[in-house]
Amino acid sequence: MCGIVGFTGNRQAAPILLDGLSKLEYRGYDSAGIAVRDGENETEVIKEKGKLRVLAEMTNNGQAVKGCCGIGHTRWATHGEPSAVNAHPHASDDGNVIAVHNGIIENYQELREKLIKNGYSFHSQTDTEVAVKLVDYYYKKYAPLPIEAIARAMVRIRGSYALCVMFKDYPGEIYCARKDSPMIIGIADGETYVASDVPAILKYTRNVYYIGNMEIAKLEKGAVTFFNIDSEVIDKKLTEIKWDAESAEKGGYEHFMLKEIHEQPKVIRDTINSVVTDGLVHFDTVSLTDEEIAELEQVYIVACGSAYHVGVDLQYVIESLTSLQVRVELASEFRYRDMKLRGKSLVIVISQSGETADTLAALRMSKESGVKTLGIVNVVGSSIAREADNVFYTLAGPEISVATTKAYSTQLVAGYLLALQFAKARGEIADERYDELLAEINTIPEKVERILEDKERIQWYSNKLVNVADSFFIGRGIDYAIGMEGSLKLKEISYIHSEAYAAGELKHGPISLIENGTIVISVVTQDRLIEKTVSNMVEVKSRGAKLMAVTTAGNYFLEDTAEFTCYVPKIEPLFAGSLSVIPLQLLSYYVSIGKGYDVDKPRNLAKSVTVE
Ligand code: F6R
Repeated sequence: MCGIVGFTGNRQAAPILLDGLSKLEYRGYDSAGIAVRDGENETEVIKEKGKLRVLAEMTNNGQAVKGCCGIGHTRWATHGEPSAVNAHPHASDDGNVIAVHNGIIENYQELREKLIKNGYSFHSQTDTEVAVKLVDYYYKKYAPLPIEAIARAMVRIRGSYALCVMFKDYPGEIYCARKDSPMIIGIADGETYVASDVPAILKYTRNVYYIGNMEIAKLEKGAVTFFNIDSEVIDKKLTEIKWDAESAEKGGYEHFMLKEIHEQPKVIRDTINSVVTDGLVHFDTVSLTDEEIAELEQVYIVACGSAYHVGVDLQYVIESLTSLQVRVELASEFRYRDMKLRGKSLVIVISQSGETADTLAALRMSKESGVKTLGIVNVVGSSIAREADNVFYTLAGPEISVATTKAYSTQLVAGYLLALQFAKARGEIADERYDELLAEINTIPEKVERILEDKERIQWYSNKLVNVADSFFIGRGIDYAIGMEGSLKLKEISYIHSEAYAAGELKHGPISLIENGTIVISVVTQDRLIEKTVSNMVEVKSRGAKLMAVTTAGNYFLEDTAEFTCYVPKIEPLFAGSLSVIPLQLLSYYVSIGKGYDVDKPRNLAKSVTVE
């Protein structure tokens, strides 16, 4: 949603804040601001509408702002339009309290009215200004102690927040509080950092603390103290981040998305190797026992966006390999359904960030119902990773581009390994078939590499899509699941209207939209369904559609129907999604570039959706 950075130490804060914010721009980029304090002097607040570079220019890359303690923010507007006045930091009128915030304060209207009655006035439309003034109110009403004031405000606030606050009376100190919005605290020699996400501080330190829900932290130069909501000091474990700083940089690629597409062979291999040794899948880290798996009857896969599409693909894979029934659910719907979860069920939540509000709520609801839960998560220490009964970490590393690629691919492969292990633990797969399928999964990284080597063909074809207004993705079974992902990728970064349909559904309505020149992209990798999908392709072609096909090497006859055919290496059809998605990622990337869009930061989107 929004990105937060804070720093206190002996160096100038502003360049560090701007650098950290540049790593968090994927979380929001409609306005940005910093507040920096030089010793006992007044805090200087600079904020502006627009991308971070506007703020960088205003401050001469931070050189024009002096002081060794500060907080910064990059915004994705929720309450109030993108504007300088709505940009963070926000301050109380006398400058006593200055803060940045990520999240949503649900009862902000009610709190605002209370504060107005107590003489406060408001200048912005944000919920953050309410939080700032609430902290100020409690600070002045009771003992002027930051921790107490923040704790009292936390008790009154409903919603989610990661809050970083500076108090006029406490120079060199930053106070942080968190509920349901991500925030980490990093520590180095004589320096302390706070950020919404690891990449913002990775250059400076790898030693971090995860601040828990309803906890408060006091940051001083090179030191941090944690408190619970009762203002009691609590202990925390320091964690070492294993990601290297380079993986959070562009590494010579023009965009993060292209870099992340190219990282897929490596991160898929890493994810496989994290659980496969000596030809067997070992789930020691996942801690779901074979006995527990054998007893399961029902699996729910719950997620949002691309992670949901992973679930749709995995439904076919798990149901094909086991006798388990699988239901795939959108987290935003699942959480509000009045449904009874069956006792012998497992709820698998899939999330790159581990912070998606709806997915987290669905996980909590499942836990309350008493069923077992498993998170397939990328970000270590994220809320979902901490709260799920079991965690399978994908090893995608930091994913910066808003449009997911490498996290999606690692989630898919994690799901294949789970499906295989489910089949084995339940005695539903012969040893020979198990070995064969595991061997096939091991071929995925190298096959993805081969597809990437052929990217120029896709780049060439992408030119034909640059001026297109509408597109359709069709497929059956796993190919339909991949079509859904291809369609989302195209629409979110190239702003071309796009829809995905199960190919068999076309004639129940959508075919009426096909006219001369309509683009239809067909995914055709499932041997037993090829003929059926080809019939659907012929149906749309005869109505004027232009067809692109993504298929498996050998299906050359598709060139009779499609104007452009893209081949992926042969693989066990159950795992074909891992390959057929790659050309679709590349296609979306090149179309977006061809249209001159900011591919890593598509409009209206944020990387981590911590609000409903
Ligand atoms: C699309 C995309 C989103 C995410 C969705 C869930 O490219 O990235 O649709 O997949 O917002 O996010 P996570 O996986 O963080 O829960």
